[in-house]
Amino acid sequence: MNPLAVELNSTLAARSPHVLEMLSQMGKNLFFPKGILSQSAEAKAKAHRFNATIGIATEGDKPMYLPCIHKHFAEYDPSQLYPYAPPAGKPELRQLWREKMLRENPSLKGKHFSLPIVTNALTHGLSMVGDLFVDPGDHLILPDQIWGNYRLTYGVRNQGVFRQFPFFNSADGFNADGFRTVLTATAREKGKAVVILNFPNNPTGYTPTVAEGEAIVTVIREVAEAGCNIVAVTDDAYFGLFYEDSLRESLFGRLANLHPRILAVKIDGATKEEFVWGFRTGFITFADGHGGEDRTAVEILEKKAMGLIRATISNSPHPSQTFVLEALRSPDYPREKEQKLQILKARAMEVKRVLSRDEFRQAWDYYPFNSGYFMCLKLKKVDAEALRVHLLERYGVGTIANNATDLRIAFSCIAKENIAELFDLIHQGVKDLS
Ligand SMILES: Cc1ncc(COP(=O)(O)O)c(C=O)c1O
Repeated sequence: MNPLAVELNSTLAARSPHVLEMLSQMGKNLFFPKGILSQSAEAKAKAHRFNATIGIATEGDKPMYLPCIHKHFAEYDPSQLYPYAPPAGKPELRQLWREKMLRENPSLKGKHFSLPIVTNALTHGLSMVGDLFVDPGDHLILPDQIWGNYRLTYGVRNQGVFRQFPFFNSADGFNADGFRTVLTATAREKGKAVVILNFPNNPTGYTPTVAEGEAIVTVIREVAEAGCNIVAVTDDAYFGLFYEDSLRESLFGRLANLHPRILAVKIDGATKEEFVWGFRTGFITFADGHGGEDRTAVEILEKKAMGLIRATISNSPHPSQTFVLEALRSPDYPREKEQKLQILKARAMEVKRVLSRDEFRQAWDYYPFNSGYFMCLKLKKVDAEALRVHLLERYGVGTIANNATDLRIAFSCIAKENIAELFDLIHQGVKDLS
């Protein structure tokens, strides 16, 4: 093991032994090298005559660039677009995202957590969680309603084992009892669990109520108190898109600094929140079980995360970070975001209005939804995949079949005035096949 990794791990062993236990073998091996990047940073500060360290080309005191590219970005200073961004991301963006998190998550007030590290959007942040914390055979605790890509990331790539529980209970609320059962069994068997919480949920569009959120936190705290190390990950991809009476903040705020055996990891980003899917700008943020001023563990995790970034993508795209940063600074940002939220909310409400029609009752139930981009029908009579193919071929309607019964509808991309027609066509498709 590299001496720098040994040093990080021995500090963790002394200050936060449970966090060290949570790391995968790769997580233990990781460190941030004192290589080209730190020598360049030193030169940036001190090399006043010639700086021959950076691996980009320059002209005058600016990065070299092609006018045929720059003509599209004339408003921007080339230095804000073309050079590499730092491995952890642009410092001003990290700071503003942290402030946004604090503003939008009142539970974070007074808690201590790392500066968000920029990732190549959420998928990358989630895969960093896998590399840092999941060894082959480790248990991932998830509901049965999940974003399918977790299987590739944590199952195929990290060879973790999925322990799932039914998302909803018989009262159509979040199934905290099922969660407790599965987490407790893993605690007994493994002594370590990686919990993935995704609200607003893909695919159901459900965010728990405040009371259900408290129940989730209680389960995690009690299982940790009984001696299990828990990496509690919140995948907040659809954060902020809350339309009804649900929890309106991330559980990260409640899980931060809760217990030495709980490491909270927040995965979020601009992808869906700021409607910039292709920009690839996300964040990973850590909060360990220490309250107060002891930042040792999160600083070590930051270094390991930066080492992982350096080893895989080196750094995230610079232009996207600049564009997101400018948006966060813009006085128009809150108003423009609110407008888009209202458009999505109106679509969600229209879906509910249309679905209340009696004629649909025989064809499907639907899972509770109150947030995000999606809702799911639970089909009563026909196979979801058969219906999906039929809708596509006969009516030109695209949906996603999650399993034999569940059909996912992304109302986020259907105009309000077309929603009734969409469900009429789906209903017609069910009638054709029954
Ligand atoms: C729950 C969830 N997490 C993460 C992602 C990935 O987001 P990104 O495009 O930022 O990688 C998605 C995208 O569909 C998602 O639904």
